[in-house]
Amino acid sequence: MLTLGIETSCDETSCSLLEGPDRILSNIVSSSLFKHQAFGGVVPEIASRHCLEQIDFVLGQALEQAGRKREDIDLIAVTEGPGLIGSLLVGVCFAKALSFDLGIPLIGVNHLEAHLEACFITNKGSFEKPRKRKPDKFIGLLVSGGHTSLTAHSKKRVKLLGETVDDAVGEAYDKVAKILGLGYPGGPILDRLAREGNPNAYRFTKPKQNRPYDFSFSGIKTAVLYLVEKEKKKKMNENEWKLFQKNVAASFQFSVVEWLVSKTISATNAQKMTDIAVGGGVSANSHLRTRLKETADAHQMALWLPPLSLTGDNAAMIARQGYRSYQRGKRSSFKLSGNPNLAFI
Ligand code: KG4
Ligand code: ZN
Repeated sequence: MLTLGIETSCDETSCSLLEGPDRILSNIVSSSLFKHQAFGGVVPEIASRHCLEQIDFVLGQALEQAGRKREDIDLIAVTEGPGLIGSLLVGVCFAKALSFDLGIPLIGVNHLEAHLEACFITNKGSFEKPRKRKPDKFIGLLVSGGHTSLTAHSKKRVKLLGETVDDAVGEAYDKVAKILGLGYPGGPILDRLAREGNPNAYRFTKPKQNRPYDFSFSGIKTAVLYLVEKEKKKKMNENEWKLFQKNVAASFQFSVVEWLVSKTISATNAQKMTDIAVGGGVSANSHLRTRLKETADAHQMALWLPPLSLTGDNAAMIARQGYRSYQRGKRSSFKLSGNPNLAFI
């Protein structure tokens, strides 16, 4: 069965052809990131226009790389939400037209569920004896630019254990990078810089939440802002400023990752589960990946991480989630529309 995945929730336009549940024949991503950099964040109008200009070309590339024709496609899976409405509508309208033209089924996919599903496409988990398939029960840690949540997944249902009460973790990375005068998106830049800094240079207080698995990242962002304002008064020379940036990056990353890891492990223990699945743009973070692996190993838990090629927004994860929903009997009608606020659960 050949599934076409279409992803246009934000600044990426992506098409992927997936054979069966996990053979990725192609996964083309056209990003408009370079067009937003001057603005320090995504400009919705520019993002949707890019999607509109690129979608047909990206589909052509995906078909060519897979060596398939439009007529070979059996199912179309498209991101329904959450995301930017203009970008979402481009993908959904395109998918509906194609589904009508080819006379094949259409499925709307939740972008957040798809991010977690990405780690089950080609992966076998981190256990010494690799598992052959997706576990029936697992804890999901979603870390992206717009969302941070912990969920418990079983065959019958998904339960929200906690989420961020303010900024998402990716958003915090982007804002801290901006405060430090670094580029956009801040996540990969801070990740790189942190490797050269001292993680113990600055201490940030762990935020207290009413619900044990909720997160908060706006406090640490404000703490970095005050720190930078205070240190700037010291009139550092260029080398001192560079070292300061590295130390702040390393200390910020150290704290954030420890909070994410400790809550994930205690949620997994509390739910009596042994598998952890991670998804979203921040799952590319090198320190988060290392610490999760070390800690999961120490607790004899299996860690499912997406390959780096599938951490950011991509259509392969949409195709996979759509394929699984189709197997469970889900279908969407031509009433399908983009839903910017589509909830995870
Ligand atoms: O999942 P994603 O591609 O888009 C959303 O659906 O939000 O996530 C984008 C976020 C951005 O905030 C970006 O800074 C962050 O993921 N990110 C990272 C890294 N790579 C991307 N954050 C930390 N470390 C990274 N290596
Ligand atoms: Zn995403």
